[in-house]
Amino acid sequence: MFDSAAYRRALGRFATGVAVVTATAQDGQAIGLTISSFNSVSLDPPLILFSLAKSARSITAMQGAEGFAINILGADQRELSDQFARALCDKWATVEHVIGLVRAPLLAAAIAHFECAPWAQYDGGDHLIFVARVLGFADANGQPLVFFQGAYRTLAEDVRPPQWPLPIHY
Ligand SMILES: Cc1cc2nc3c(=O)[nH]c(=O)nc-3n(C[C@H](O)[C@H](O)[C@H](O)COP(=O)(O)O)c2cc1C
Repeated sequence: MFDSAAYRRALGRFATGVAVVTATAQDGQAIGLTISSFNSVSLDPPLILFSLAKSARSITAMQGAEGFAINILGADQRELSDQFARALCDKWATVEHVIGLVRAPLLAAAIAHFECAPWAQYDGGDHLIFVARVLGFADANGQPLVFFQGAYRTLAEDVRPPQWPLPIHY
């Protein structure tokens, strides 16, 4: 179809933030994956989306989860991003978190988080598209982690560091 290297390079011109989507599987295990595919969809009702590779180890657990949390990473959380992007390791060792409303882990020091209930799932080729309804959120000042051209970046502007715990709006 396309020259896949050129296609990926062109897609990489779209800068995104970096988030970790988390949930608790039905067997009680914590799940977390680094994503850049987060976006808002609807304000009323408040809906967000993200897409996950069908090949992801956690895909079945995510499909059956009671809810999700989207944790937006700050500029100093590259290691956390890498940790949640690695398959087949204990992603949760040393990760400070609390369990939220829908049993999804909220990561300490995220600059924002959104707690969501499942709304819809759609086929997206080699990915599944998850749409979820936001039940609660919190945010704080802080530099975001940015992903651009296959590499982590930070914004040039200086913003105040985040404070933990974040005040949650339900
Ligand atoms: C910056 C960044 C963004 C990513 N975005 C996505 C994404 O949007 N969807 C996805 O399925 N995987 C994405 N990944 C890859 C997953 O984080 C990675 O495959 C993860 O290990 C899957 O976890 P699992 O196999 O344990 O379920 C991204 C990785 C990085 C580093």
